[in-house]
Amino acid sequence: MPTHSALRFVGSPTWEALSGHPVAHEVWDDVPSVGHVELGRWAQLVIVAPATADLLARAAAGMADDLLTTSLLTATCPVLLAPAMHTEMWLHPATQANVATLESRGMHVLPPAVGRLTGTDSGPGRLPEPPDIVAAALPLLAPLDLRGRQVLVSAGGTREPLDPVRFLGNRSSGRQGVAIAERARDRGARVTLVAAHLDIPAPSGVTVIEVDTAASLRQAMLDQAPDADVIVMAAAVADFRPVDPAQHKIKKDQGDPLESLHLALERTEDVLAELVAARRPGQVIIGFAAETGSEDSGVIELGRAKLTRKGCDLLVVNDVSGDRVFGRETNEVVILDRSGPDVDVARASKITVADTLWDTVAQRYPAHPIQ
Ligand code: CTP
Repeated sequence: MPTHSALRFVGSPTWEALSGHPVAHEVWDDVPSVGHVELGRWAQLVIVAPATADLLARAAAGMADDLLTTSLLTATCPVLLAPAMHTEMWLHPATQANVATLESRGMHVLPPAVGRLTGTDSGPGRLPEPPDIVAAALPLLAPLDLRGRQVLVSAGGTREPLDPVRFLGNRSSGRQGVAIAERARDRGARVTLVAAHLDIPAPSGVTVIEVDTAASLRQAMLDQAPDADVIVMAAAVADFRPVDPAQHKIKKDQGDPLESLHLALERTEDVLAELVAARRPGQVIIGFAAETGSEDSGVIELGRAKLTRKGCDLLVVNDVSGDRVFGRETNEVVILDRSGPDVDVARASKITVADTLWDTVAQRYPAHPIQ
């Protein structure tokens, strides 16, 4: 629903062509269907982007002089405002008071980004990038189907020291585990994230425990597990660690030049298996399997064998051959369920994968199973 001013920047035909939907902006369009009431009731979420100083003022005053402001008065769903304007206008006490009023009425206001504005000036007032607006909007749409549940997630990749400056690590960025923690939070869970060297910041609103090695991750998980209703082992945990990490930096020349170096490695504990062994009744445990397939078995076949071996409830199987997963924004997985059909998630954002996982948990493993 563009305002009259918005249509001076981009006209209705452009909006209609790009969206494939009709554009409405007048209360007087299609009067018999009473559009402003119908649209306000129909919407599950309203996003106003950009929200100008004028729009904020009109909304704060409860004005109803176009379809957008009228619909804001009839909408009962969450409303997200993404203000964008020149810095002076944003910082003006009138605008700030309008924002405070709108927030006090339950509207959500995304603070503007800092950067280049429409002229040559820069500062706070820039419209946040679309992915940031989407990231702010998604939690407002989330079903609160994990409310009251305590969720424990491990994410990232462990590092096993070889000497004080080097380590054996892996390519996990932590993005999928972070998305899982984020969406559990959005869906109402209390979340603890055990974070091993994430490439991205940990989400706000979750308790973060930073860990380094497989041993420290194991300790954190075993400490937290008794309180958890759902445990997700998304971290890539080292299977082997150096038996005896050097106390000092390993030098190429130690008297004689070293032509090769042999590392003695020992097995680490299987944290997922330990969590399964110690699980309490009703606790849901979810593992991940990064597979590339082998000469004789496909990825799913290997995943199914792993689900049985590990004894968890769900196993999220990733095909990590080629460059398909690590560090990327998207993922493609199959969720194997020990007691139900597989759930295929075609290539999708890691947030969508996380949501499908939580949909599966909420539907198939509800908090209070019917006896
Ligand atoms: N995992 C774990 N502790 C380890 C290694 C892995 O808890 N020492 C967990 C991972 O977090 C993941 C699951 O086990 O949830 C499967 O990890 P993966 O590396 O795919 O399986 P492995 O058991 O290590 O089997 P393999 O490497 O032989 O495929």
